Amino acid sequence: MTRFSGVTPSGNATLGNYLGAIRRWASEGRPGDLYFVSDLHGMTSAYNPQRLRVLARELLANLVASGIEPDQVFVQSDLLPQLGALTWILECTCSFGEAARMTQFKEKSNRRELEATPVRVSLFTYPVLMAADILLQGADEVPVGEDQAQHVELARTLARRFNGAYGDAFVVPRAVTPPAGARIMDLADPSRKMDKSARDAAGVLFVMDEPDLLRRKIRRAVTDGLGRLEYRPAEQPGLANLLEILAACTGKPVRETAGGFGSYGELKEAVTEAVIEELRPVRERTQELLADTAELDRIRARGAALASERGAHRLAAARRLAGVG
Ligand code: TYM
Repeated sequence: MTRFSGVTPSGNATLGNYLGAIRRWASEGRPGDLYFVSDLHGMTSAYNPQRLRVLARELLANLVASGIEPDQVFVQSDLLPQLGALTWILECTCSFGEAARMTQFKEKSNRRELEATPVRVSLFTYPVLMAADILLQGADEVPVGEDQAQHVELARTLARRFNGAYGDAFVVPRAVTPPAGARIMDLADPSRKMDKSARDAAGVLFVMDEPDLLRRKIRRAVTDGLGRLEYRPAEQPGLANLLEILAACTGKPVRETAGGFGSYGELKEAVTEAVIEELRPVRERTQELLADTAELDRIRARGAALASERGAHRLAAARRLAGVG
């Protein structure tokens, strides 16, 4: 059984990435699991190459600092030749209609059009690259938030279709959606998910934020004028989000977290302390790793070698079966 998932360096890791994904990968990790920094996915809109490089390194350090085994992490671009090849084979397996149905593409391309920025072809094809990521490594379980489940579904469809048409090359993966803390929302606008590439970071808590900054952002979190300390996501989305963050940090069920606070201010204090303590060890260990360039380079090179070795026979089989190898 192989679990496999990734995080894209389109910005610094957020509390949402950490609680919704990375922390779970670290705590539930088994020997065959694999996690990666999907830097190639960070190229689907305008980006700065130098910043992409720096962010990929920081995210790699975040993964290891969170407790994922160093042998179980890699950076996607280190496998570019293999992934490029497999993406092509899978693009030849995927219909235009299937790719066009991807909700993330529709949302993101609409936004770009509104902003009058060009929509890159790679934004359209990136779910196929994501399928290549998954299928190359023979992953059977892909833990992702709800936002990515549709992409895993596509990987599943493509694996089945390829196996059916040409012969068995791929393990058929499935998405596993984490039950609690699955979606952390932006503190300034609780109708939006907390996103590392948000234009305005006032409501985004980053893993590497210093405690003072976390405190300021949480103090300004949008709530409501009802003054009612209950978990009601539909009526009180801002408050519900704070309660979910607190629940995720303390390990208590979310419905039990609302009791015991006299005011929204008191709740925010508790959320602040919980978030600071949750992130402190990860931030400090990340800083140590970033300062030790040789060690981080070693981890990166070893992870790339292991992942590449692991995928080589699947790519070879897919090429042979597809008549191009
Ligand atoms: P990315 O970088 O957008 O997100 C990484 C993981 O964090 C989860 N996540 C959240 N969870 C809770 N609350 C939030 N606010 C929040 N924001 C993000 C995401 O659901 C995800 O699990 N395309 C992927 C990376 C990827 C990948 C893959 C994953 C590339 N190839 C292959 C699995 C398999 C992405 O951009 O994730």
